[in-house]
Amino acid sequence: MTFLSIIGTRPQIVKLAPIYEAFVDAGVSHSYIDTGQHYDAALANNVQSELGIPDPLKNLKIGSHSHAVQTAKIMEALDFEIDQIKPTTILVYGDTNSTIAATLVAVKKGIRVAHIEAGLRSFNRAMPEELNRVATDHLSDILFCPTVNAMENLEKEGLGGKSVNVGDVMCDLLIRDSAKFKKIDASQEGLQDNFLVSTIHRAENTDSYDRLRSIVSAYAALPMQVVLFAHPRLKAKLKDFELSFSENVQVREPVTHSDLLGWALSAMGVVTDSGGFQKEAFILGIPCTTIRTETEWIETLENDWNVLVPNPHDLREKLNTSRNRPRSVPFGDGFAAKKIVSYLTA
Ligand code: UD1
Repeated sequence: MTFLSIIGTRPQIVKLAPIYEAFVDAGVSHSYIDTGQHYDAALANNVQSELGIPDPLKNLKIGSHSHAVQTAKIMEALDFEIDQIKPTTILVYGDTNSTIAATLVAVKKGIRVAHIEAGLRSFNRAMPEELNRVATDHLSDILFCPTVNAMENLEKEGLGGKSVNVGDVMCDLLIRDSAKFKKIDASQEGLQDNFLVSTIHRAENTDSYDRLRSIVSAYAALPMQVVLFAHPRLKAKLKDFELSFSENVQVREPVTHSDLLGWALSAMGVVTDSGGFQKEAFILGIPCTTIRTETEWIETLENDWNVLVPNPHDLREKLNTSRNRPRSVPFGDGFAAKKIVSYLTA
């Protein structure tokens, strides 16, 4: 049996880390291909080395293109590589163009596909990620769900028979690496104590001038400092649109996974549009404000630990920084990756 994971973006490296370790612990042969959808060191290599994952079998170096071209280039390159490796199971992660491309190639070769982080739904078909995850779930052979809600979504689509609730692999990693999340010293960073940590990268927030301008204005209206770890897509769009953040916003390069969480633990709250960061904030007990109309991680909305702000204009009024609220444990027990590997190797 040969297990092959396909990843390509920063959050997929994070999801791969506990799976990689679980295969090693089980003494089962497993390797991975990186499509190279993300290629900047800050989004790719730095994250990989920090998480202790060795280099991939191959980096396909696909890079940035339109959705169709990126997906097609990944498919073409994988078609060849998979024929050489001849895996019996391919593991795909999340909802990116690398996920759907790998799934399509594998299922048409009759190779068993396991989808990790299956069953999430934003019910917003304008998001490329929603299209990728719906198609991936319907095509895959085994669906590993992180939550009860994800299982229910799949049952409603007639996919309950191939779904298993194992818990969330990113939650595994948070438990494994929690000692590495070092709080920062605000004064050494030129910050007052009450600052926010933020990331913004989604197409629906960055790719229209009006939307991005309203986000820039909303941050300017906040009465505190914001440390914004800027995805290259955000930086590129700010440049294209000739927009810049106000003085209360420190725009910084992306940091590694554990550094980001150390920063978040030091902040009064997180403002983001990332799915993974919303969930990590919830698990760590950090109030989150999400600049989106909906979330696929609906568990995080419990007791307003995560508050959605569809219109950036409302950010100041709706900003979520309060902590004294009960919080449940919906993302599993920290053994999702072990359960996935046991299931696949049984
Ligand atoms: C992708 C995923 C998204 C995920 C995100 C995590 C899809 C459809 N989207 O979005 O679900 O949340 O990764 O970060 O797969 N760029 C660089 N350097 C890089 C990568 C990207 O400069 O290493 C810039 C380029 O301008 C590129 C843009 O970012 O065109 C978008 O990159 P892309 O990989 O298409 O999507 P992400 O926004 O990163």
